[in-house]
Amino acid sequence: LEIVWTAVPALAMIFLSGPTFTTLKYMDTVPKSDLTVEVIGHQWFWEYRYPKYGIVFANEPLVIPVGKIVAADVTSIDVVHSWFVPDFGVKMDANPGRINHTWFQVEKPGTYGGQCAELCGVLHAEMMITVKVVTADEFDRWIEQKRKGA
Ligand code: CUA
Repeated sequence: LEIVWTAVPALAMIFLSGPTFTTLKYMDTVPKSDLTVEVIGHQWFWEYRYPKYGIVFANEPLVIPVGKIVAADVTSIDVVHSWFVPDFGVKMDANPGRINHTWFQVEKPGTYGGQCAELCGVLHAEMMITVKVVTADEFDRWIEQKRKGA
């Protein structure tokens, strides 16, 4: 009996490690992206930068195009935060002095919510995240507006 209750869980662990490591590697490997955004945690808000377009803002939704591969470089200027958007399967620590890399590809337009997931001070609960996923045309128009300083 002892052999059985040792061997069965051991075999289950070995069986589960296959898909686990495959998925972890898939999540960790940033593919060639269509867009790179920088996500910067502050006490207590999120700053977003689009280096390719020279756009920087804070306290507003992140806007990304639907279906595109978006790479996110995540960091912090003060304490440890965590950029967590459950619908994207993304939860990346934002550490001061370090840039963490993640990525996502959203197939459905819409507004997605998230929240800082690392206790970062008294207003931790206020660090909400909103991501607007829009069509390519809407994204281009939004970029134009932002570049004009709207
Ligand atoms: Cu930032 Cu919690």
